[in-house]
Amino acid sequence: MEQNKKQETSMENIVSLAKRRGFIYPGSDVYGGLSGTWDYGPLGVALKRNIMQLWWKMFVEDRDDMHGVDAAILMNQKVWQASGHVDTFTDPLVEDLETKQRYRADHLLKDAGIVVDGLSLDDMTRVIKEQGIKSPNGNELSEVRTFNMMFKTTVGPVANDESISYLRPETAQGIFTNYKNVVDTFYPDLPFGLAQQGKAFRNEISPRDFIFRSREFEQMEIEYFVDPATWEESFEHWRQQVWAWTKALGLSDEHVHELEVAENDRAHYSKRTIDFEYDFPIGREELLGLAYRTDFDLNNIQRASGKNMEYTVKGTNTKFVPHVIEPSFGVERSVMAVLSSAYREDEVNGETRIYLALPAHLAPVRYAVSPLVRNKPELVAKAREVYDVLKKKYGAVMWDDNGNIGKRYRRQDEIGTPYCVVIDFDTLETDGLVSVRDRDTTEQRRLEVEEL
Ligand code: GAP
Repeated sequence: MEQNKKQETSMENIVSLAKRRGFIYPGSDVYGGLSGTWDYGPLGVALKRNIMQLWWKMFVEDRDDMHGVDAAILMNQKVWQASGHVDTFTDPLVEDLETKQRYRADHLLKDAGIVVDGLSLDDMTRVIKEQGIKSPNGNELSEVRTFNMMFKTTVGPVANDESISYLRPETAQGIFTNYKNVVDTFYPDLPFGLAQQGKAFRNEISPRDFIFRSREFEQMEIEYFVDPATWEESFEHWRQQVWAWTKALGLSDEHVHELEVAENDRAHYSKRTIDFEYDFPIGREELLGLAYRTDFDLNNIQRASGKNMEYTVKGTNTKFVPHVIEPSFGVERSVMAVLSSAYREDEVNGETRIYLALPAHLAPVRYAVSPLVRNKPELVAKAREVYDVLKKKYGAVMWDDNGNIGKRYRRQDEIGTPYCVVIDFDTLETDGLVSVRDRDTTEQRRLEVEEL
């Protein structure tokens, strides 16, 4: 079925490689974990940073119409009241009447093959009853009700209604609350955008599918402020930019799909949304979103704060509250898409080989350098020399002299290192060249160090 098209790699392969090779571990692993949280290991954090830096370069540094911001995670509770999150940032919840375990009603319905788009809470309750849908433990389910996904906390030594705050469920509001500050200090021409990367938190009812649905994750968001008369043009511009982004991640176009979200399935603030979906190993699911948020947020802020959010077009008396196009990217889903698109298995010398065909600009390690054997001081010294040169140039270079050369290649293949550089006796005695092995073809060439 087109809807459930899966890539060949299984989720188990990705999760297992991620843990085995130090990309991603379960959060609080040593204490048995904490559901919906994940920790990045040395290679995972390198991959994640490469993705985030690429995004920042493409969408902030390389453009004239963008500025970056980095707002506090904890914000005044009025932010979340005005934005509508306190009232409407909810998911449908059902409870197993025996075990009291809670589930997302739409997930249970989807798992039972029922199309949930556009169903109200009452509809879901009715379908559960009519179709006799039970909990995963086979028990009766409660009525469906809403569950607010924001993590609540209190700020300061006194816990009362005034000190309530929330861990932000989206980074976007940190941008909207700084819109006026940036306009007053930078006077940007419309259209212009503000970009932010950072943590977001959602108390997901049932976190699942590895890092795909977690309770703590990172977003990379852009709020692009436009003259309302031109919103369609800017929406189209960002639609094309999203495609440029998925290409830069190395995702093949045939696995990325646009889904025009129907009106009753859109977020409360959106007049048009396209979900960009990817063929993950778990099926076709949302990778990122592109929404037309209108003047919903700035108008709400204006109303709730009493501050004027109008933009005055330079040299004129024309004033209006700008409208907003929002491309919203999830870091974890980008990491998961990159890992699953890069995962390969083939056969080398009669043995199964696993490798990650990561684009070189995202690979956690660019070059691995080693002496052919580690007990020949002259080979080790020359290899160290080459390593120092490459390390200075690229940073992401690994010294790897563990085990025999075959084992090193396998290890580097699994972490997606594009090239392994080996210093052998020919380097010292014959040509001065180093051997460079290509991860994808396994072919070796002899090159000058300067050619790397
Ligand atoms: N500001 C708009 C917004 O937050 P969203 O569709 O709720 O929109 C944007 O989230 C992106 O954030 C998603 O497309 C996804 O990549 C990521 N995301 C959302 N919830 C997530 C979760 N629980 N775990 C991991 N990523 C998530």
